[in-house]
Amino acid sequence: MAATLEDRHVVVIGRSSGIARAVTESATAAGARVTVAGRDPEALAHAYQGNVRAERVDVTDDQSIAEFAQRLGPVDHLVSTASARARGVLGELDRAAVLNSMNTKVLGPLMLAKHLAPQIASDGSFTLFSGVAAFKPAVGYLGVAVTNGAADFLTRCLALELAPIRVNAISPGVIDTGAWDSLGEEGKRAYFDHFRTHNPARRIGTSQDIADAVLFVMTNPFLTGVTLRVDGGEPLT
Ligand SMILES: NC(=O)c1ccc[n+]([C@@H]2O[C@H](COP(=O)([O-])OP(=O)(O)OC[C@H]3O[C@@H](n4cnc5c(N)ncnc54)[C@H](OP(=O)(O)O)[C@@H]3O)[C@@H](O)[C@H]2O)c1
Repeated sequence: MAATLEDRHVVVIGRSSGIARAVTESATAAGARVTVAGRDPEALAHAYQGNVRAERVDVTDDQSIAEFAQRLGPVDHLVSTASARARGVLGELDRAAVLNSMNTKVLGPLMLAKHLAPQIASDGSFTLFSGVAAFKPAVGYLGVAVTNGAADFLTRCLALELAPIRVNAISPGVIDTGAWDSLGEEGKRAYFDHFRTHNPARRIGTSQDIADAVLFVMTNPFLTGVTLRVDGGEPLT
């Protein structure tokens, strides 16, 4: 039987929009008490109009994580969507961008696990984020792919280390969160058109598709060590 989120403390790290927001709103609707956390808690508090607790954390900074853990108190479910993409072909990649990507999406969750595990409920969970680039390598996405691949592997390692706390990851496909706005209006339309006509689901994903998956992995008590691919079947093409 699925666990309920009623009155459980769910902590969501990430920005005030996109996937983090959909997870926050879905968990709140399911009865959870939600804390949102990121580098700018004032902006988060403003975005949510004071309806959730907002906290500061920079997942690339161990002291920030340790202080965050102290302020949080007991946690039932932790979700980290934090990410800093290192897009570009090999010739354009610099070490700092790749390091920042790994630091944010791999070492960040590793250190979050280290500092927060003692206060996560034994029937609770930690949800990380991987991404489709790990399962369908493409030119221009090397830095993203190796980061997401490492997040997938870290998930399985943490599922063993933190047991019985369950640890899973979500691997989104192409989701219209604003993460692709840097391609420009035209570029984004062409990019999305390509994916929606080629993938087996024949559409681009939504933040709600991903939030539904996060709630599923948080509440299924027999699911751990899994990277759930919610990607419209993109790696099959
Ligand atoms: N959107 C997609 O198509 C897609 C595809 C595959 C995987 N994913 C993954 O799904 C997750 C959510 O994606 P999204 O598109 O909704 O959001 P996103 O654009 O990836 O946003 C991630 C947010 O993480 C926060 N962040 C960055 N560095 C941080 C740090 N050091 N400490 C704390 N927070 C930090 C930033 O928020 P602030 O700017 O507010 O600081 C950033 O906006 C990410 O892990 C992403 O890689 C998304």
